[in-house]
Amino acid sequence: MKILVIGGGGREHALVWALRQSPQVQEVVCAPGNGGIAALARCVPVRQNELGDMTRVALAEQPDLTVIGPEVPLSLGLVDELRAHGMRVFGPARDAAKLESSKVFAKEFMQRHQIPTAHYAVCRSHQEVQDALEYFHPPIVVKADGLAAGKGVVICASKEEADEAAGRMFSGASFGRSESQVILEEFLEGEEISWLVMTDGKHLLPLAAAQDYKRVGEGDTGPNTGGMGAYSTDQLLEPAMRDWLVAHIAQPVIDGMAAEETPFTGVLYCGLMMTARGPVVLEFNARFGDPETEAILPRLEPGELLTALNAAVDGRVDQVELKWKKAVAVTVIAASEGYPASVSTGHAITGLDEAAKEPGVTIFHSGTALRDGNLVTAGGRVLAVTGMAETLQQACDRAYAALGKLRFDGMHYRRDIAQRALKAAKENS
Ligand code: AMP
Ligand code: GLY
Repeated sequence: MKILVIGGGGREHALVWALRQSPQVQEVVCAPGNGGIAALARCVPVRQNELGDMTRVALAEQPDLTVIGPEVPLSLGLVDELRAHGMRVFGPARDAAKLESSKVFAKEFMQRHQIPTAHYAVCRSHQEVQDALEYFHPPIVVKADGLAAGKGVVICASKEEADEAAGRMFSGASFGRSESQVILEEFLEGEEISWLVMTDGKHLLPLAAAQDYKRVGEGDTGPNTGGMGAYSTDQLLEPAMRDWLVAHIAQPVIDGMAAEETPFTGVLYCGLMMTARGPVVLEFNARFGDPETEAILPRLEPGELLTALNAAVDGRVDQVELKWKKAVAVTVIAASEGYPASVSTGHAITGLDEAAKEPGVTIFHSGTALRDGNLVTAGGRVLAVTGMAETLQQACDRAYAALGKLRFDGMHYRRDIAQRALKAAKENS
């Protein structure tokens, strides 16, 4: 098989890496790819916000399967476009990707289908926000309707702050685009988990759960990011709870989308808060998570990813039973100075070879480029370092030992990925 992967981050590096382990895969092309992906796939430049550009690449390459990593191509309708050309594509069509690309659509869909989610109000003007705030108690969560690369959610300690945050979203001061709809939402407390299921539009296949560390600073401080690290263990989600989530969340979403004639295929990422009143959906994504994918995929036995992707495209994920290694994984992101705000790039990265020699360690590139044959930084998140082992402590030790060998100007990373779980495990033993 020849496979085309769209995207160029750590998630796509992990996808390419896992696909490369299948003997049926003869060639992988990645558009645009990055400095690390280039070692495993032929990288082809593409603008990920240009539908015509991506379609041209796919038509020129004629892959047997296209896998779409990021949300923007999905929201533009790349899947619709490629399917119209008779191509096999893994990912949801544009109308189904609205579960991620419009938070208002997702909230209203959940309400229609009785899927547990936080109480909320949709506001279409700043005045409506001010009126609705009367019914909310701080902390108040303010969410932009559209895609915002993980930066469209503000948790506000007071009504005044919420009012200001919503005002910035409407005016366009937050991320350069003025929102026409803003959601106010009840603040939920609990452990957050990322639970991804692969689906063919009818059946579903759950992946191992992960926990993402969204805040930039240790102890969950500072602004939200795309994700500063993640870990994946079976303890995050007991089988009985997983069955509950299938019955009350994932299957109703898939059935509801099919009933509304926008069947959802690909990966449904359920961002869940495990609250005192039970699991509640915070958000859906229409794709693999980043950095969750860098923690989840290395736990799969070689070849399993391709089997599952093919089954999803061919409408038979119910026939797949994934085989997992007896190992857990911890992924830590090494980020550029200033991330999640603007960063400077082009700094030399050193220590990769030594870091990669650490046992049980795989390094995925999130934002790197090759300049005169040397790797340099090329984004906010630069490297995703995954440590694998039988125990969480050892997986952590391995990831951090590798990080200790890596260097680039301004590099920073959180030192507390998976620490809460380790502490809880110690207290329970
Ligand atoms: P979202 O993009 O909706 O997942 O929001 C980004 C992050 O904000 C989530 O991963 C949570 O950490 C946090 N968040 C979102 N909604 C809520 C909520 N209702 N209560 C508490 N935290 C939230
Ligand atoms: N790590 C969160 C996301 O992929 O959206």
